[in-house]
Amino acid sequence: MAYSWFKAFHIIGVVVWFAGLFYLVRLFIYHIEAEQETEPARSILKKQYTIMEKRLYGIITTPGMLVTVACAIGLLVTQPDFLKQTWLHYKLGFVALLLGYHFWCARLMKQLEQGICQWTSKQMRAMNEAPTVLLVVIVLLVIFKNNLPADITTWLIFGLVLLMAVTIQLYARKRRLDKEKELAQISELPQQQA
Ligand code: HEM
Repeated sequence: MAYSWFKAFHIIGVVVWFAGLFYLVRLFIYHIEAEQETEPARSILKKQYTIMEKRLYGIITTPGMLVTVACAIGLLVTQPDFLKQTWLHYKLGFVALLLGYHFWCARLMKQLEQGICQWTSKQMRAMNEAPTVLLVVIVLLVIFKNNLPADITTWLIFGLVLLMAVTIQLYARKRRLDKEKELAQISELPQQQA
């Protein structure tokens, strides 16, 4: 019974953790792009994004991570045999990467607040795909365990996920370029009128 409770809250923790990570990095993108605004909009936006990021990280993302890890420990304590299984060793490796990403976000949040972040919004958009890849790999590992299939269907699924990520990037790039073109046209208008 305890095992089922741990598993239920482990999954709830995972959903909350990932929702937080996805939204947090999206806020970072807007925060970086706020640099291009003119004053006073720039200061107002940056202040607002700092507040939103801190609340999201402290109230959603980190508690989600803690619930996931705490319940994972509960699962291993109730079923210690899992510790001998290879799939779990791989899973722990990917979870370590995910934890690294989580704490890297905290560092970036501080840099953004201090105005010393060196990342561009384009690089941040690419980084936003990292948790998606980890999510797919970890879920496949936990479902298929040591029998992770390597047949055509699996590669098709991987291909589809990859295609989805590339399409999102291209669409975001197109929107960014359209916006830049629109802004350039607006700024040329007063000169033409003069
Ligand atoms: C903190 C390290 C983690 C450990 C030690 C761990 C360990 C475990 C264990 C032992 C199970 C039970 C497997 C079973 O009953 O067959 C499980 C289930 C699960 N884990 Fe994790 N986990 C961790 C982190 C994560 C993360 C980060 C994710 C998501 C990306 C995740 C996703 C899942 C899912 C979806 C299940 C349910 C699978 C099912 O339906 O049985 N876990 N985990």
